[in-house]
Amino acid sequence: MRIIQCHSTQEAVQTVADLTLERLLSRPSSVIGLATGRTMEGVYAAWTKRALGEGIDHSSCFFFMLDEYLGLPDGHRCSFKSYIQERLLRPLSLREDQIAFPPVHGTSHADSAKHYEISIQESGGVDLQLLGIGQNGHIGFNEPGSAGNSRTRVVELTESTINANKSEFGEEKMPTQALSMGIGTILEAKNLLMLATGKSKAEVIKYLLNHHDDPNCPATFLKSHPHFTLVLDPDAGSKINLNI
Ligand code: F6R
Repeated sequence: MRIIQCHSTQEAVQTVADLTLERLLSRPSSVIGLATGRTMEGVYAAWTKRALGEGIDHSSCFFFMLDEYLGLPDGHRCSFKSYIQERLLRPLSLREDQIAFPPVHGTSHADSAKHYEISIQESGGVDLQLLGIGQNGHIGFNEPGSAGNSRTRVVELTESTINANKSEFGEEKMPTQALSMGIGTILEAKNLLMLATGKSKAEVIKYLLNHHDDPNCPATFLKSHPHFTLVLDPDAGSKINLNI
């Protein structure tokens, strides 16, 4: 596990954007797994700004989204599909056939989940998976209790996750389920790049660094991955001491 401690939040988001773009520059046909959430907003802003400024070609890469809420109509403003369309697809003029979304509108979620796994395998696998982390240690929507070998499936959101995200929905009721890549699915990506920013993540980052393969904190399963990079801003890293 490699940890990059940055001097500011801006430096942290720029670091994640730059590592992603460097991958795309060296291998333009890379397959990238995309996460959403407030933390990642700055990454997409930095990514699109640099990519447009330098004219970086994205025409041969492919993207898989990590997760999606269940029960929202297609095009809902709070769906992760809308999130990424607004922040990455439209700014970079990416084609619709360059991205796959967890298929949440089918009749059988189990079949849809299997189909998503097959699509990932047929693409050659994810080269670089971007990740945030929940205050309860979730990755994607793999909540505490998820198995280290879990695959794409329907997941129930915990109260902690609902409380952290419900303000996005305003007066509307937030979904309580999602379709998420599993921890086993995520671990098959060739490289994992996680970003944590803000004081609200300091405790979970401390826990992550002190525990291994602990289902109470699903992110701890990532520590066995040979290419796992964790990027922190000063607040998220404020409870750890890396004087090594
Ligand atoms: C969403 C996702 C989640 C978020 C996590 C942190 O695609 O993967 O695991 O990364 O909930 O969300 P924020 O950044 O809003 O704190």
